Amino acid sequence: MVNENKKYFAEFSDLVNDIIENSKVKNLDNLSHHIGISRLQHSINVGYYSFFIAKKLGWRYKETARGGLLHDLFHYECSVKKFGPFKHAALHPKLALRNAKRICDINYLEEDIILKHMWLANIKFPRYKESYLVSTVDKFCAIYEAMFTILQCIKTKFAIIH
Ligand SMILES: [Fe+2]
Ligand SMILES: [Fe+2]
Repeated sequence: MVNENKKYFAEFSDLVNDIIENSKVKNLDNLSHHIGISRLQHSINVGYYSFFIAKKLGWRYKETARGGLLHDLFHYECSVKKFGPFKHAALHPKLALRNAKRICDINYLEEDIILKHMWLANIKFPRYKESYLVSTVDKFCAIYEAMFTILQCIKTKFAIIH
């Protein structure tokens, strides 16, 4: 099982290596996302788990991996932005798509994945099943990442008290 996971992650890395090496993407590691995690780590989580599920289902896993990795390629801190959550939900997918097009070729499926990943917060429906997949994985990752950080904080507090 461990070896199989390693095999999948190696394949994912091969598919997105050119993106990960780009300085604009590396810069995401300096930005926080949700609670207690960098935007780069969140993007890798979404890209990898979306790729893994798409591969298992026989869907277009290459575009799913690349679109998932690029879905939050924007460079303002959410905590210091000057506009509200609705504007953020509408704006950042467009920024991510513009930035993604500046660093690599983006096809119609990757464009849909990036632009529609905020589906439900935005009313534009995704066009492809892979876009629905990335949007769903994004929401699960956001919840898991926030819960993980909160549990770590609680554990640390209890360790101090006892
Ligand atoms: Fe996003
Ligand atoms: Fe996201």
